[in-house]
Amino acid sequence: MVLFALKWALRPEILQGTTPALLRQLMMAAKTGKAAKTGKAAKTDKTAQIGKAEKLTKFKTKAAKSAKKTKSISLKDDAASAPTQIAAEVEQHLAEQSVEQTAEPSTDHNNQQEGDMVKKKAASAAAAINIGIADDDRQAIADGLSRLLADSYSLYLKTHNFHWNVTGPMFQTLHLLFETQYTELALAVDLVAERIRALGYPAPGTYSEYAKLTSIPETEGVPKAKEMIQLLMEGQEAVVRTARSVFPAAEKVNDEPTADLLTQRMQVHEKNAWMLRSLLEE
Ligand SMILES: [Fe+2]
Repeated sequence: MVLFALKWALRPEILQGTTPALLRQLMMAAKTGKAAKTGKAAKTDKTAQIGKAEKLTKFKTKAAKSAKKTKSISLKDDAASAPTQIAAEVEQHLAEQSVEQTAEPSTDHNNQQEGDMVKKKAASAAAAINIGIADDDRQAIADGLSRLLADSYSLYLKTHNFHWNVTGPMFQTLHLLFETQYTELALAVDLVAERIRALGYPAPGTYSEYAKLTSIPETEGVPKAKEMIQLLMEGQEAVVRTARSVFPAAEKVNDEPTADLLTQRMQVHEKNAWMLRSLLEE
């Protein structure tokens, strides 16, 4: 405003009617106005600088608070490089934290445990049996079949033993008959044992287990031919009784495969018992 007034006053048409004293006053006013303008400009520059500094300080504070959440960071005095420096430190800290979490032993251990549990669960699911028969019922049937297996194996051994050791006028007949029967028994024990396995239980396979489970006693020494026939006939009947005793457990839960196996075994042993019994008749 002052400059505008001075420019108006110093126009040629105005200056023509101006006195020297007035002219000096106008010059003084012009200098004062320039100084005022310079001062105002300087003040504006200073204010701008202060505002810039304040903005920078606020930015530093905000960045420092953000960084403090993850890691304490000392701000640099160099205001221009502070934001970049803070960002770099925050980024580095986050990267270190990520590496620490990845390399943390307990985390690896937990992951390993989870992996093991998943594997165990999968193995358990693979080993689980769900054929429509409750565990207790399967157990009862398997126990009965184990007794049938023990009886069958004991009768197999007794029959084979008598095949080797039979003597007398009926040697050829009895030697061949006993061979037919022990051969059939050797195949039968495999069917019984594998049915136990299919039900999810281990099949007994040692003489000590068979001695505990079987209902057929061992024969001491070498009996006469007629006594061998009697002992084998009793053995065949014993297997039939054992097989028949298991049947209700299989029938109760509609275990048709076991019932079929038991039926076949009873049929075979009843027939063998009939043949042996016939040899004893006068
Ligand atoms: Fe033989």
